[in-house]
Amino acid sequence: MRSMVRENHVRVDELVYPIFVMEGENLCSPVDSMPGICQYSLDRLWEELDRVVEAGILSVLLFGIPAHKDEVGSGAYDDQGIVQQAIRYIKSEKKYQDLIVIADVCLCEYTSHGHCGLVKEGVVLNDETLPLLSKTAVSYARAGADVIAPSDMMDNRVRAIRESLDGHGFVQIPIMAYSAKFASAFYGPFRDAAHSAPGFGDRKTYQMDPANGREAMREVEEDLLEGADLIIAKPAMAYMDIIRGITEKFNVPVAAYNVSGEYSMVKAAAAKGWIDEKKIVMEIMTGLKRAGAKIIITYHALDVAKWIREGE
Ligand code: PBG
Repeated sequence: MRSMVRENHVRVDELVYPIFVMEGENLCSPVDSMPGICQYSLDRLWEELDRVVEAGILSVLLFGIPAHKDEVGSGAYDDQGIVQQAIRYIKSEKKYQDLIVIADVCLCEYTSHGHCGLVKEGVVLNDETLPLLSKTAVSYARAGADVIAPSDMMDNRVRAIRESLDGHGFVQIPIMAYSAKFASAFYGPFRDAAHSAPGFGDRKTYQMDPANGREAMREVEEDLLEGADLIIAKPAMAYMDIIRGITEKFNVPVAAYNVSGEYSMVKAAAAKGWIDEKKIVMEIMTGLKRAGAKIIITYHALDVAKWIREGE
C-alpha cells in the first residue's frame, strides 16, 4: 500500500554523474576530500565510463583539469583541450557514444587566478568574458557535446552562448544553465578536485548570496529569456525552497546539483559509522524529487543506480 501511494520516485534515467578528466597518463588519482571520486586521465577514462554504462546512467557532466593554466583560461576553448578530447573519445567509442555528454562551461579550472572570468586589477570583467565562454561552448559542441552547461555566472552569458552556437550551426544543442547558483562553501571539495579555488578574493561578485531567494527567481527568468532550455539549482540540500520556487514559477525542467560538499559530508559521516549511507543518500534523493527536481546531478549516482536496481 505504501509503495502504491508513494508520490515521488528516484529514477536512474534522471541521474547525471559528474566526471573529472585530467591531462596526463595512467591516472586515476583519488580526490582526498571526495572519497570514491577520482580524476581520470583520458587513457583510463574507460574505467569510469564502463561503470556508468553498466549502471544504466544516461548522462555525464564533464569537468576538465588542464596541465597548464593562464590568465585568460585558454585551455577552456582550445580545440585540443582535455574536455574536448574526452568528448571526442566518448563519441568515437561505440560503447559510450549514446551517453548524453553535458559539458560544463567555465573558465575557473583554466585560469591561473582561479576566477570564472577574465580579471583586471582584481576585478572580474563580465562583458569581456562572454566571447571566451561562447568560444568554449562552440568548441565543446564541435567536439560532440550534447548539452552546454554554463556555470560561470556572468550576466548575459546564456544569450551570448546561444547566439554563438546558432551562428556555428549548433542550433539543436540545448543550454542547461546554472541559473540559481549560490556563492557556497559547499563547493570546497570540488575546488580541490578541479584545482579551481580562487587565488584571491571570492566568487561573491558573480555567484548569489545564499540569503536571496527572490534574486534566484530573477536569475532564472533572465536565463530563460536569453534562451536557456534547462535550469540548474545549486547547491541542492540547503536550497530546496529554490528548487520548489523555480518549478512553481516556470515551466522548465530543473536539475538539482547535489554538490561536492554535500557528498563529502555524507561520505565522512558514513565512514565513521555514524549514519547509514544508503538510507541517507536515498532520502536526500527523494527529498530533491519531492522539492521538484526533474534531474539530479550527483557524485552518488553510481551507488544510487545500484541501489535502485537492487530495489533499495
Ligand atoms: C565551476 C563549477 C563549480 C562547481 C561546478 N562548476 C565550482 C565553483 O563555482 O566554485 C561546483 C560543483 C561541486 O561543488 O560539486 N564554476
